[in-house]
Amino acid sequence: MNAILMVCLGNICRSPMAEAALRYHAEKAGVAISVDSAGTAAYHIGKAPDIRGQQVVLHNADTDMSHYKARQVCAEDFDRFDIIYAMDIQNLRDLENMRPEKSKAKLFLLREELGQSQSVADPYYGEISDFETVWTQLSAACEAIIRKY
Ligand code: 4NP
Repeated sequence: MNAILMVCLGNICRSPMAEAALRYHAEKAGVAISVDSAGTAAYHIGKAPDIRGQQVVLHNADTDMSHYKARQVCAEDFDRFDIIYAMDIQNLRDLENMRPEKSKAKLFLLREELGQSQSVADPYYGEISDFETVWTQLSAACEAIIRKY
């Protein structure tokens, strides 16, 4: 079974939503994969996802994220996961710098799955509509990932 890690900065906005989106599309398609998420920064360790993201995911994917807890990326992640998707270009650079030599995980920018070499914009200082935009982008990218399985 493939193991996929979704990574953003804080692990409270984009990457938990990406984790939920990938699970949602995997379940819908009957694909077995293991999914987790983490942040490059330590600011929000132990916190539940941003309530705005929780609301958007509940509404769009009938998925409760209230039990998710933020964690920071660690060295073992680069061997525990087959693929690590970064939500933005800075996350990707940080992951490349953290990555232990000879580790197994392949690193990609998530929206590359849609042929778009663009970041998923950070909605932290935004509005609920920014979280809706994030969901639309994440859901489309995760659907494209699952189509390949
Ligand atoms: P995330 O969003 O990386 O999508 O979880 C952010 C969460 C927190 C902060 C920035 C982005 N922050 O500066 O605390």
